[in-house]
Amino acid sequence: MQLIDGKTIAAAVKSEIANEVKKMIDADLRTPHLAAILVGSDPASETYIASKERACKEVGFTSSVYRLSEHTTEEELLKTIDFLNNDEDVDGYIVQLPLPKHINTDKVISAIDPKKDVDGFHPQNVGRMVMDMPCFLPATPAGIMTLLERSNIETEGKNCVVVGRSNIVGTPVSILLSRNSKKANCTVTLCHSRTKNLKEVCASADILVAAIGKPEFITADMVKEGAVVIDVGIHRVEDNSEKGYKIAGDVKFDEVALKCSAITPVPGGVGPTTIVSLLNNTLKARKNND
Ligand code: GUN
Repeated sequence: MQLIDGKTIAAAVKSEIANEVKKMIDADLRTPHLAAILVGSDPASETYIASKERACKEVGFTSSVYRLSEHTTEEELLKTIDFLNNDEDVDGYIVQLPLPKHINTDKVISAIDPKKDVDGFHPQNVGRMVMDMPCFLPATPAGIMTLLERSNIETEGKNCVVVGRSNIVGTPVSILLSRNSKKANCTVTLCHSRTKNLKEVCASADILVAAIGKPEFITADMVKEGAVVIDVGIHRVEDNSEKGYKIAGDVKFDEVALKCSAITPVPGGVGPTTIVSLLNNTLKARKNND
């Protein structure tokens, strides 16, 4: 069984990015700047923002965070977006999701300048992704494609089952996996809460992508012998350990690992490559500004 090591793959990509930044510094050019807007203090969002800041530092990017109270109005948030759209020093930025319920997420995402939308969430970038036109790819799906490619996982002609149809992961990764490219060319089935015979569909997958958002949802009986399993989930699950919890994915790792040919661990699988995809998009945004 091959453990798909997201940390090592992410470190390799980061060192490639850091080399490019070094060349920019040597040429006296401005280094890339990634900003983030965080509304409220959701613990998972705080963790993501902290990882993003750490990763920026590692590769030599400038990084900034705009922290707004959870009671911020939609109008105030849109003002910050307008400010960042016009700040020539910022190459790209993200609005950390989820947003508080009183804010219309679609409206907020649509207000981001598509040229600075390094999350690839703006409808213009999503449309361009679907049409295989130059765009910013969303970070987690791009990270999954990097993991498959750099782990030498054969994808061409494989049956791929994606569980979960979110705008952030399931839907875009199903498009990228089905793309006409040597690094994709899968036959993709996208499963969701209304899918019939989910267990059987999952068990037919050569490549199974679990992006359900439910801890340890995928069990061994849902996985084909020799399948490749990509686990997008990350959850804190209470247990009897000293800490009182463990980190789990959407896949019941211990039993599924015995059955599959390759699997991503949680943590240390998809997460690290998500962050480097965001860095890659920011580098691209910086180059687009030349
Ligand atoms: N929340 C969970 N994942 C993401 C992501 O990739 N980008 C943003 N902006 N928010 C998220």
